[in-house]
Amino acid sequence: MKVIRQVAVVGATGMLGKHVTNRLVQQGYSVTAVVRNMLKGQQLLNSKVHLQKGDLSDPGSLLTAFRDVDYLYLNLSTGPYEKDADFRTEIEGLKNAIKAAKQAQIKRIAYLSSLVKDYEGNGWWVFDYKREAVRILREADIPVTIFYPSNFYENLAELQIRGNRVLLAGEQTTKSCWIGTEDYARMVGEAFRQQHDEDREYAVQGPEAMNMDEAIDLFIQNYSSKNLKKTRVPMQVFKILKPFSKTLDFQYHILDAINHYDEKFVSERTWDEFGKPQQTLADWAKQIK
Ligand SMILES: NC(=O)c1ccc[n+]([C@@H]2O[C@H](COP(=O)([O-])OP(=O)(O)OC[C@H]3O[C@@H](n4cnc5c(N)ncnc54)[C@H](OP(=O)(O)O)[C@@H]3O)[C@@H](O)[C@H]2O)c1
Repeated sequence: MKVIRQVAVVGATGMLGKHVTNRLVQQGYSVTAVVRNMLKGQQLLNSKVHLQKGDLSDPGSLLTAFRDVDYLYLNLSTGPYEKDADFRTEIEGLKNAIKAAKQAQIKRIAYLSSLVKDYEGNGWWVFDYKREAVRILREADIPVTIFYPSNFYENLAELQIRGNRVLLAGEQTTKSCWIGTEDYARMVGEAFRQQHDEDREYAVQGPEAMNMDEAIDLFIQNYSSKNLKKTRVPMQVFKILKPFSKTLDFQYHILDAINHYDEKFVSERTWDEFGKPQQTLADWAKQIK
């Protein structure tokens, strides 16, 4: 008899979270999305995903949601308003999730971190929080798998399009090994099939190294729904406006980090274990509706 494994996802309504959650269902997992907003969950997720109301700031809701769950996938992010906040999603929220997971006897937690969090050129507090999250997970006393992906293709269609323009900020002087959620979600699913209790950490990089200009050009060439135009916003615009807006300050720092982070290819072991990512940026762009 085929064993159906139960996975809970926190962050399933996120830009990346929804793709990974829907793909875990396609892989045969029975998935519970722990969501703050049930309507948003219904709109974004496959109808086979069981929706359970829950919040990382409410430990009781997590305990209820994690009942009878085998594995937990955490797709969290740190927002522009979380600096020095009493509740920080990837610190206090993560600790609450780990505590509830242990109480519910969950077998493994998989966590989405990032490669660029190691960028030290702009001393950004968000990267300090993300490095702290990794320390918390390593000391969690429950098996964890931590993923460190490069840039996702999905940013181009879901974050960077405005009307018929694809926006980029300044110029990326380095290259990123772009990856799609299709290949990444397969790795998340595989992490739950591993038959050991050790912690594992994986860089997640795709088959092509490109800077932002090259990635956008390839996206535009292969995207058929409308004619898109690349539009560059000077970093100076963010620099001038960031003292007046926490959101623009946040965007300035992440864009500055992506533009300068000297990403090396460090995914040999990931490719050995999970196979080389198959989807290219052009493949991904061609199939977008
Ligand atoms: N984009 C990239 O290229 C890239 C590359 C590498 C790594 N990453 C990492 O990917 C992560 C971002 O993923 P994403 O784009 O999917 O994030 P996102 O769109 O910001 O989604 C965050 C999710 O967390 C949920 N959430 C927030 N606070 C919560 C709480 N208190 N209780 C329960 N759920 C809560 C949100 O729910 P609501 O819908 O209710 O707000 C949402 O589902 C970041 O950590 C980033 O470092 C991104």
